[in-house]
Amino acid sequence: MNELIPDIEIIGQDTENENDTSHNHSVLPRINNSKKLYIESYGCQMNFSDSEIVTSIMQKQGFGITDTAEEADVIFINTCSIRDKAEQTIRRRLSQFNTLKKNNPGITIGVLGCMAERLKTKLLEEEKIVDLVAGPDAYRDIPNLLHEVEGGQKAVNTFLSREETYADISPVRLNSNGVTAFISIMRGCDNMCSFCVVPFTRGRERSREPHSIVQEATDLFQKGFREVTLLGQNVDSYKWSPKKTLPGKTQTNFAQLLEMVAKVNPLLRIRFSTSHPKDITDDVLHTIKGYQNICNYIHLPVQSGSSRILKLMNRTYTRDWYLAKISSIREILGDDCGISSDMIAGFCSETEDDHLETLSLMDEVKYDFSYMFCYSERPGTMAEKKYMDNVDLSTKKRRLQEIIKKQQEHALERNKKCLNKVHQVLIEGYSKRSNEFLQGRNSANRVVLFPKGNHRMGTYVDVLVTSCSAATLHGETV
Ligand code: SAH
Ligand code: SF4
Ligand code: F3S
Repeated sequence: MNELIPDIEIIGQDTENENDTSHNHSVLPRINNSKKLYIESYGCQMNFSDSEIVTSIMQKQGFGITDTAEEADVIFINTCSIRDKAEQTIRRRLSQFNTLKKNNPGITIGVLGCMAERLKTKLLEEEKIVDLVAGPDAYRDIPNLLHEVEGGQKAVNTFLSREETYADISPVRLNSNGVTAFISIMRGCDNMCSFCVVPFTRGRERSREPHSIVQEATDLFQKGFREVTLLGQNVDSYKWSPKKTLPGKTQTNFAQLLEMVAKVNPLLRIRFSTSHPKDITDDVLHTIKGYQNICNYIHLPVQSGSSRILKLMNRTYTRDWYLAKISSIREILGDDCGISSDMIAGFCSETEDDHLETLSLMDEVKYDFSYMFCYSERPGTMAEKKYMDNVDLSTKKRRLQEIIKKQQEHALERNKKCLNKVHQVLIEGYSKRSNEFLQGRNSANRVVLFPKGNHRMGTYVDVLVTSCSAATLHGETV
């Protein structure tokens, strides 16, 4: 799964301490503890991670969690703006909640996340059903906003912060398998890729204090989790500097942070996402190599194989630069290292030749996996202001299909290289198709299925891979 990729849905569920109000030390207005929150998330993993922070804030206000919208007093929908389709999905969902609200006018509907940030008060005008709008840096204010709504007003907070990282808030893990978890290490993005709305919806880049990250990883390990994924829009530019008032603390970069988290326990696997080709350093690659528990897998989105398009996208690297990074990865981490990408088909002015360059770059890299999209113009972005969205939809779609087809061929080819080898797999749960099989991933992020035997979730097994498809490896434990 690409940790920063949209269009999946997750629904809040009961947690073991849903009515745990023992540590309500907030000075904010306290809400009757029989109330229930239903939270639904869209977009990238950062959003899902934020929903866990919001749930934690709501629990401290005495809210229980429900996985049934009909049962809820408050419905939160944590939204994504990355492509137009993502926003359309959310608008359809809001109109479904309309019926609910007609039957139960007391219900509060809140819109959180990137669409809230992008549209601000306009959202209240456009979607009458919405009572509360909170942007990604305003979640601590939610109790106050709910209080305003209780008083009969609509409530909005879309201030972006230069400091907020929610470092002290312990997320309530939603929909957890108890084995793998995500840890937000930074927020925002300072890379103005011309197609991208994220810098506008998430604000300036800021890094979270490293010891709070290590502490969260340690807590997770003690609770039985065995894999953490460190999340940021551009993890390679992670940089935390102590304030002058904290003597003795030094600057921490991403390679150092990786090492700190890897030292929590050799049985805790570390993943991270997303890496930016302009920022990933050999230092990071050597750190991965140096720790057996840092996974041999890098998500390194290229977006396009044409240097001309990359320039228009303001990605700040060329095709050659990107390919040189791939060579470094292969040199330092070997051919087994999993590499995945994101690709955009039909960006402004993309010609057939540009598109062919994307396909030929794919041939050179041979990604294990990719997330692939048609370009969708986003309001306010540099591309919207400066370039024409002039590749027609049918061409975009045809190019996307060609990219997808190539990716499938490569995924199969790469998986075949795993045959007749033993892979260490962390067991995450049952196979989706059959309870007779368990599934997990190897270090390179490939999904591996095998007969369940007496194996338990959250343990490591060695699996001899005997067959594969483009999507999965199959084998038996040895
Ligand atoms: N920070 C990450 C990605 C964040 S968004 C990075 O830099 O790689 C996830 C992906 O969505 C992007 O990599 C890009 O491929 C895609 N995306 C972003 N904006 C888009 C747009 N306007 N149209 C189509 N795809 C887009
Ligand atoms: Fe968007 Fe570029 Fe930032 Fe990724 S690095 S979030 S694509 S602006
Ligand atoms: Fe993520 Fe979508 Fe926002 S991809 S950062 S939720 S626009």
